[in-house]
Amino acid sequence: MRIAMVGTGYVGLVSGACFADFGHHVTCVDRDAGKISALLCGEMPIFEPDLDRLVKFNVDAGRLNFSMDLAKSVAEAEAVFIAVGTPSRRGDGHADLSYVYGAAREIAKAIRKFTVVITKSTVPVGTGDEVERIIREENPGADVTVVSNPEFLREGAAIRDFKHPDRIVVGTEDERGRKVMTEIYRPLYLNQAPIMFTGRRTAELIKYAANAFLATKVTFINEMADLAEKVGANVQDVARGIGMDNRIGSKFLHAGPGFGGSCFPKDTRALIKTAQDHDAPTRIVEAVLAVNENRKRAMARKVAAVFGGNLRGKRIGILGLTFKPNTDDMREAPSLSLIVALQDMGARIQAYDPEGMPQARLELTDVEYCDGAYQCAQNADALIIVTEWEEFRALDFARLKNEMASPVIVDLRNIYRPEELAAHGFLYESVGRASKISV
Ligand SMILES: NC(=O)c1ccc[n+]([C@@H]2O[C@H](COP(=O)([O-])OP(=O)(O)OC[C@H]3O[C@@H](n4cnc5c(N)ncnc54)[C@H](O)[C@@H]3O)[C@@H](O)[C@H]2O)c1
Repeated sequence: MRIAMVGTGYVGLVSGACFADFGHHVTCVDRDAGKISALLCGEMPIFEPDLDRLVKFNVDAGRLNFSMDLAKSVAEAEAVFIAVGTPSRRGDGHADLSYVYGAAREIAKAIRKFTVVITKSTVPVGTGDEVERIIREENPGADVTVVSNPEFLREGAAIRDFKHPDRIVVGTEDERGRKVMTEIYRPLYLNQAPIMFTGRRTAELIKYAANAFLATKVTFINEMADLAEKVGANVQDVARGIGMDNRIGSKFLHAGPGFGGSCFPKDTRALIKTAQDHDAPTRIVEAVLAVNENRKRAMARKVAAVFGGNLRGKRIGILGLTFKPNTDDMREAPSLSLIVALQDMGARIQAYDPEGMPQARLELTDVEYCDGAYQCAQNADALIIVTEWEEFRALDFARLKNEMASPVIVDLRNIYRPEELAAHGFLYESVGRASKISV
């Protein structure tokens, strides 16, 4: 199968490389000249574990290439995926579909034979209908079917997720579209990954419903964490205690500083808007979003509380900036709001992240960036764990304490055991585990 992947970002690049690995011939297209020229030189424009190896292997095998020439790539392809961004639209929170529609127009003009156009971007219900309308308007003679195939991969584990999905959702009622999609995913199908065929609008809604549900789970346990702190309970045990119930499940029950990232915030906002427009408001999701927004600044107040509410002049070390470990993605990372809130309270910030610092430099001001965790601890009045990178789990506490002005750790990911930190002489505050400390 010849595939064109329009949009070579976190989703397009991973999907394109994995499809090539299945044996298809894939051209990843992007209009960002920097991205394409880097990829042509063998450099990855993003950090995703093992991606460089997968890309190199398939480029060397002649199955994967990169181009800015959308028209040529589309004309040669039997299947064209749209994997461009769908960020929140400025002002109202709707999904900004200008990149999707722009890509659809360009694709329409380039179609030469029967082509399946597949929306992989996360798009509101009805977008597939509009993509089809645009293609027919631009190229009335085009022999085309438009399919929805939302993507569920997680950054940081993207290749594994793509190759071992819990399910593949394909929204089409067209027999030819169904055949092509079955062929594209055949290698996974043989591995028993369930393919679910459904209507196009249903497929579009499945993606938003999935993300909204997961965001709800995270927010629910975050509220339980706040309650646990007040009543002297341990939220990790609560999560374990409810997670062992199969009807609930243990995933996404880790209390923390609130969800962020490139998907949950924008997708919950977009679902809320779609639901309001259709006069079927999703009140639960509205509450989830509002609770999550408040939480980010509440985390700054949690840090301040350790110092009796006053952070003026305090030097705070931030460990972890990306919205989760194993990615360089800083989009809507909780660290951004947290740092600004701490700065508003008069704190001086020094920070370290294994992959996120180049992007963070573009988004934050007045932050001192460090070479590693121990440098980040130097002269700090407190150290805050914001992202649970593996390398933060096994720090040398004695050395850390030596570096710091005062031994205070606020662990927003609950990666340490309170007893251990106490034994090392730290004042330790975490999330949803009652502790009575202040300096
Ligand atoms: N990032 C994730 O973890 C994830 C997971 C599942 C679904 N999604 C969805 O997938 C979509 C893409 O997300 P992403 O994180 O990969 O975005 P991204 O911003 O990393 O990549 C999008 C790319 O599309 C390119 N582009 C835009 N218009 C183009 C055009 N007309 N022609 C060629 N290239 C064009 C941009 O230059 C950019 O490189 C979004 O809808 C997102 O919600 C993302």
